[in-house]
Amino acid sequence: MKKMLLSIVLGLPLLAQVPDWSFEDVKQGWNSDLLTKTYFHYSEMQRQWAFELLGKVPFKGNEKVLDFGCGDGKISADMSHLVSKGSVLGVDLSFNMIELAKRKFPSFAYPNLAFRQSTSLVSSDLEEGIYDVISAFTVFHLVNKPLEVLKNLKSHLSVDGKLLLVVPTGNNPIFYQAANEIFPKYGITAPRFASRDSKNQTMRTLEGCAFFLQEAGYKIELLELVETKNPFYDIEELIQWMVGTVSANWNISQEVSYFFFKDLVMRMCELDPSMMSTDGSVFFNNARIHAVAKIEK
Ligand SMILES: C[S@@+](CC[C@H](N)C(=O)[O-])C[C@H]1O[C@@H](n2cnc3c(N)ncnc32)[C@H](O)[C@@H]1O
Repeated sequence: MKKMLLSIVLGLPLLAQVPDWSFEDVKQGWNSDLLTKTYFHYSEMQRQWAFELLGKVPFKGNEKVLDFGCGDGKISADMSHLVSKGSVLGVDLSFNMIELAKRKFPSFAYPNLAFRQSTSLVSSDLEEGIYDVISAFTVFHLVNKPLEVLKNLKSHLSVDGKLLLVVPTGNNPIFYQAANEIFPKYGITAPRFASRDSKNQTMRTLEGCAFFLQEAGYKIELLELVETKNPFYDIEELIQWMVGTVSANWNISQEVSYFFFKDLVMRMCELDPSMMSTDGSVFFNNARIHAVAKIEK
């Protein structure tokens, strides 16, 4: 009820504060060549997020790791150093991301690291029961059928294996209010909201994450919400980060992407001047969820 009232007051679609973007068309979005390039240059924040969680998980050094939705492969490459006696396989739906990852992190420099495009939305093309760690960093906000994907990932875990998740909540009303104003200006249809499950759950909330992990047969070892005021050097850096990251989720074309996100960020700053500091730096609120889970025995 509270959410409904807030939505009406802010003029937002009902679920706008915790959307769940659809990700079924693998030819667009993250597969766009130019976006692959921009993501590589603007994914440092995502890398930092992943390492905050990785810092909480002990590694022996001989683990077999599956990095699901590895994107540009930066974090997979970092993890290959954590498991120098083990291995890392990065998989992604996006052909272009995988090609980029292979070029940036070649096997002569990273002998225990490999990348492969996943040909199945549910990873049925991967070996079962062998991974000591499966990570999915900033992926589950894009997954349309989280229960199905979580169950499938579980089948690839070894008996004592761990699943590590970082899920951005996207819970920033000002961001969605600005977005809802800017979409019509560019004649772009706002991304459709993926249908929630029958209990109206989404991986973008702590409650939803707990629900899906338990339904999929996991025992939760860590589940926490990390409130984050993500710092950006200046407005321009925040605009570029959105171009590199959010364009793919919303499928905004390269031709208009910069102008779209410039308008969006400027509008956010008008709506909430407190996100700007006197030294020119800006903060973007985007809380994340950390989860560590094992197979329920
Ligand atoms: C925001 S990027 C995250 C990339 C990387 N994990 C990081 O943290 O920088 C999301 C990635 O998830 C991939 N993805 C989304 N759904 C997927 C699925 N069902 N299977 C494999 N990859 C998926 C996209 O292609 C994209 O490269």
